[in-house]
Amino acid sequence: MLMRTVLWLLLILVVTSEDEFTFDGFNNTNLSLDGIASISDGLLRLTNATRQTKGQAFYPIPFQFREKSSGRTLSFSTSFVFAIVSEFSDISTFGFTFCIAPTERLSGDLGQYLGLLNLKNDGNSSNHIVAVEFDTTQNPEFSDIDDNHVGIDVNEMRSLNSHTAGYFSNGDGKFNNLSIISGDPMQVWVEYDSGNMRFNITLAPLSLSKPNLPLLSSTINLSKIILDTMYVGFTASEGNILTTYYILGWSFKINGEAQPLNLARLPSLPRKTYKAKSKTMVIWLPISMSILVLATILVITHLVMRKKKFAEILEDWEQEYGPQRFTYKDLYRATNGFKDEGLLGAGGFGRVYRGVLPTSKAEVAVKRISHESRQGVRQFIAEIVSLGQLRHRNLVRLQGYCRRKGELLLVYDFMPNGSLDKFLFNQAAFGLGWSQRFQIIKGVASGLLYLHEDWEKVVIHRDIKASNVLLDSEFNGRLGDFGLARLYDHGTNPQTTHIVGTIGYLAPELTKTGKATKNTDVFAFGTFLLEIACGKRPIEPQRQGDDILLVDWVLEKWQKGAILETSDPRMGSEYVVEEVELVLKLGLLCCHPLAGARPSMMQVMQFLDGDVPLPELSPANLSAEVWASLQDEGFDNYVMLYFSSEGTMSFISEGR
Ligand SMILES: *[C@@H]1O[C@H](CO)[C@@H](O)[C@H](O)[C@H]1NC(C)=O
Ligand SMILES: *[C@@H]1O[C@H](CO)[C@@H](O)[C@H](O)[C@H]1NC(C)=O
Ligand SMILES: *[C@@H]1O[C@H](CO)[C@@H](O)[C@H](O)[C@H]1NC(C)=O
Ligand SMILES: *[C@@H]1O[C@H](CO)[C@@H](O)[C@H](O)[C@H]1NC(C)=O
Ligand SMILES: *[C@@H]1O[C@H](CO)[C@@H](O)[C@H](O)[C@H]1NC(C)=O
Ligand SMILES: *[C@@H]1O[C@H](CO)[C@@H](O)[C@H](O)[C@H]1NC(C)=O
Ligand SMILES: *[C@@H]1O[C@H](CO)[C@@H](O)[C@H](O)[C@H]1NC(C)=O
Repeated sequence: MLMRTVLWLLLILVVTSEDEFTFDGFNNTNLSLDGIASISDGLLRLTNATRQTKGQAFYPIPFQFREKSSGRTLSFSTSFVFAIVSEFSDISTFGFTFCIAPTERLSGDLGQYLGLLNLKNDGNSSNHIVAVEFDTTQNPEFSDIDDNHVGIDVNEMRSLNSHTAGYFSNGDGKFNNLSIISGDPMQVWVEYDSGNMRFNITLAPLSLSKPNLPLLSSTINLSKIILDTMYVGFTASEGNILTTYYILGWSFKINGEAQPLNLARLPSLPRKTYKAKSKTMVIWLPISMSILVLATILVITHLVMRKKKFAEILEDWEQEYGPQRFTYKDLYRATNGFKDEGLLGAGGFGRVYRGVLPTSKAEVAVKRISHESRQGVRQFIAEIVSLGQLRHRNLVRLQGYCRRKGELLLVYDFMPNGSLDKFLFNQAAFGLGWSQRFQIIKGVASGLLYLHEDWEKVVIHRDIKASNVLLDSEFNGRLGDFGLARLYDHGTNPQTTHIVGTIGYLAPELTKTGKATKNTDVFAFGTFLLEIACGKRPIEPQRQGDDILLVDWVLEKWQKGAILETSDPRMGSEYVVEEVELVLKLGLLCCHPLAGARPSMMQVMQFLDGDVPLPELSPANLSAEVWASLQDEGFDNYVMLYFSSEGTMSFISEGR
């Protein structure tokens, strides 16, 4: 008898623990995530401010939704807190849903399908999907009532019942609307009573307790919809307006009232930052079919004429790069037709234009590169797109690309202060002080270190120089154009590989082997250091006679004990002697003709941060002539440099 009671108790315990859950924040929770959904800082992010994406999150274990003995559909209830944070304060796309589904991997479409259903299965009774939608766009095809509503969807996107978002006050029963895209967290209660088939949805700001009257209350017979076991979760889709859908807390229970959330324990949202909304912003709103058909006829004639102008190449294998793909038309509009007024610069890889993207109004820099061969383009694009995932504050972010016949367009973040060489070499521009220069040096070093060591694969930049360093609004140095050099040596015969890079920055071994390595990047970085400290180009053409090589000049001055004389007079007198000396000597060390003798970027960073002192350089055996002859004759003499245990550094020069 006692045994039986204990067994019963055990059974009840197991059953209750499988019938509900409560998450006051999502730290250390095990959810089944898909798409771009992620959990961080205790928050569940269904999407993460990335255009044309979707995300879903499901509780990983399905629930028993029907009574085993009778097959009767059970009641359920859930409560959650959400927030929709859009880049603009009053517009957002598209929305999210709470849903009950037979699987934890829904193949919902982007856009108005909210990641829940797709064009093919919308309305199919074999979906077995019940959802509560929080919809922020008005889609006439689904008879949406407005662009700020809550609806009940069963197997289709067209809601059975919907209401403008808001709540009814206790007492007077007055309706108060709420803007679900306000960015403020709001709480939702969804309850289904299987006995009288009542489906209630209630919404309220966090400051209020649950209102007595639900926002929506419908009678729905779910017995044909709900299967024996079902998953519960969320889906969301994001359009061209950067929007993050957050879930802050969530509880669920079968056959009873879901645990109230402990609001005090919920994670907090990141600080809101809105872009000023532009009044002229036009967003693509769906229009009714008839207008569409009429417009299409008009537009088609127009399009046929414009087709050639905006023609681009899009092949099947590019499908997976959808989000990184820009249309030529958007870029054409953004840059005002690639007019010369918007020209930011022209370099080895092509012309760069300033632009403003039509939908997001974000400022971008668009680089137009012409390339003849189709060879290797696919691999190159795969690489470029994967480089687009690089996130570092000292790298210029690549947003995406577009491809046309013989032409590639790359879209980068716009850098308001342009490129560094303008400030170094243009006498008209104001010079940069030492502290700014030192900050730029450290920034670029850390960006390059990231490319070399910290990302999932090693990225060789191949073209480090002052004109490839861009300055953001705070004058932080950011490396641009990484990986671009690859375009020119993909698919070519190794014997005839072109050397990519810029004269004056090319390591001696690169001119022989044509093989770019981390060491050749360090060499170019060394030249870059000298460039900044001296305010001179790596090769200064002379009116009469030989051109002056910056490296040789600094080395010569240093051997005369006057290395500081090489520093840029435009910096003024306000500089830290030790730092300037460090940068000059480090520059020389990085430009060492022997690849193996150059420090790694990790060491460079340690020297610059002062964590490890730059070993005392003793140049006794090394003259500028030796250095030069090494470079010219290709190591007939070789120089070895080593760090001795005392931390001093010496050059050993030997004849062969
Ligand atoms: C998360 O849940 C899934 C499904 O039950 C399970 O396979 C997995 O091991 C769980 N992971 C962790 C870390 O608990
Ligand atoms: C995505 O989320 C992470 C935090 O997990 C954040 O650091 C990152 O900036 C987000 N990405 C975008 C594009 O907002
Ligand atoms: C509904 O979905 C089922 C299973 O996916 C499929 O066999 C059926 O053809 C679909 N019905 C309609 C009308 O599309
Ligand atoms: C509620 O609706 C009224 C009238 O439509 C509008 O003026 C007001 O701004 C709305 N309030 C919110 C919070 O959306
Ligand atoms: C749904 O709301 C109605 C009031 O409109 C209420 O009478 C009913 O008890 C509610 N049902 C559930 C399951 O909360
Ligand atoms: C609900 O639907 C099921 C299946 O169609 C039916 O058997 C049942 O009678 C319905 N319940 C009510 C109360 O109408
Ligand atoms: C979640 O964990 C992170 C560190 O992993 C911590 O900073 C944060 O405070 C935690 N949030 C909550 C709500 O516990």
